[in-house]
Amino acid sequence: MRFAFLVGFISTCVAIGTCPNATDQPTNYDNLTVAVVRAPPANWPLPVMNKNWTGIDFDLNATVSKAVHLIEEAAGNGANLVIFPELWFPGYPKGIADNVTMASHVANYIDNSLVLNSPQWNRLTSAAKSNNVYIVPGFSHRDGNHIFMAQALISSAGELLYLRHKLRPSGGERTIWSDGTINELKVIATPYGRWGLLECWEHFHPAMTFNVQAQAETLHIASWPHIPDFNDPSAAGWESAEVNVAAARVYAANSGAPVAFAAVGNVRFINSDGLDIVVVNAAESFDETPLVYSSFNTTGLAATIPYTTDGEQSWGILQQLRAGFPSYIPRVVGDFVRRNMIGVEDLLAAA
Ligand SMILES: *[C@@H]1O[C@H](CO)[C@@H](O)[C@H](O)[C@H]1NC(C)=O
Ligand SMILES: *[C@@H]1O[C@H](CO)[C@@H](O)[C@H](O)[C@H]1NC(C)=O
Ligand SMILES: *[C@@H]1O[C@H](CO)[C@@H](O)[C@H](O)[C@H]1NC(C)=O
Ligand SMILES: *[C@@H]1O[C@H](CO)[C@@H](O)[C@H](O)[C@H]1NC(C)=O
Ligand SMILES: *[C@@H]1O[C@H](CO)[C@@H](O)[C@H](O)[C@H]1NC(C)=O
Ligand SMILES: *[C@@H]1O[C@H](CO)[C@@H](O)[C@H](O)[C@H]1NC(C)=O
Repeated sequence: MRFAFLVGFISTCVAIGTCPNATDQPTNYDNLTVAVVRAPPANWPLPVMNKNWTGIDFDLNATVSKAVHLIEEAAGNGANLVIFPELWFPGYPKGIADNVTMASHVANYIDNSLVLNSPQWNRLTSAAKSNNVYIVPGFSHRDGNHIFMAQALISSAGELLYLRHKLRPSGGERTIWSDGTINELKVIATPYGRWGLLECWEHFHPAMTFNVQAQAETLHIASWPHIPDFNDPSAAGWESAEVNVAAARVYAANSGAPVAFAAVGNVRFINSDGLDIVVVNAAESFDETPLVYSSFNTTGLAATIPYTTDGEQSWGILQQLRAGFPSYIPRVVGDFVRRNMIGVEDLLAAA
């Protein structure tokens, strides 16, 4: 299994001319160093819970420049993978997403959403390649007449390995971003192990967690938008550290994979028992600590079998969920699972 993967890897690198050069040290896939971003994007109101956007414009170009600096800094400190918070490109519109009108910012937000293969996109993939790191940007993805809440996995050769859209944006997000699709719930095999990606409140929903956990992650990559410190009186339950970190702990314990938790503000790494490995609070300076690191012993993980037939997230359990579903509830598919698509033209017309 591992041998087969390495053969595929080498031939890909020959084919597209991205092989490490002769003077480079061979990569050690037994030690994975992960960096999570906690610094804010460009033009993002501070402190973390400040939602006053008066007079502030989103700036994708400046945010991409900031990202490139962070990628360089992380790589310089030995990182192999850099994870960005949810919608970091061009910035989570905190407060605005709760407001169905998006007030006067909707056109500016759509203009600053990221388009695949655009100059801004290419700057990110080039930064991954030139710094020899995998990156996971969290971004507002503009695709024709829709925007999506996206995560991508870009390899250290600058290749797009995986693109996904948040399956069901949360609350007011649903009035702006369109839904993803269920075939985007994939775990990706890398030479360091099997990586799964989810965003924010996806960690609460079995429709998103079950199918990812069934694919035997060895590292879970979690992008939250922003997280305050514990006991922050300005945070409602849904945006509190208490509630969101609880979901990440449950995810880790349930999947058996450590969780790398990126967010603007309070970030952490959580081990596979659900306990903290390292925490940096929202109150810490972003200039002094823009990134937080943790290293993992990944020896042998590339060869991990990608599923179990005998665990908590298996085909048998799925059948049990169906069979045990209360018989008095009508077998009716309600509107909740209908794919929700919001046209950019309609958003602009309503703004
Ligand atoms: C090869 O790798 C060395 C060491 O990392 C670097 O200094 C050099 O610029 C690289 N050469 C090419 C052609 O990429
Ligand atoms: C929001 O920011 C604007 C511009 O800085 C300021 O004039 C206004 O007083 C702020 N509003 C609140 C509620 O703090
Ligand atoms: C952003 O950068 C792109 C490519 O570098 C450039 O074409 C564009 O004009 C820039 N946009 C703004 C608003 O500066
Ligand atoms: C793993 O890599 C990190 C970053 O380069 C380094 O600090 C750490 O010592 C390494 N761990 C081991 C066990 O080699
Ligand atoms: C949305 O924002 C507008 C303009 O700031 C405000 O008047 C309105 O009350 C807000 N609506 C909600 C639901 O927050
Ligand atoms: C990494 O894990 C492997 C497999 O469990 C073990 O043999 C090895 O000693 C570990 N390496 C370090 C540096 O802890």
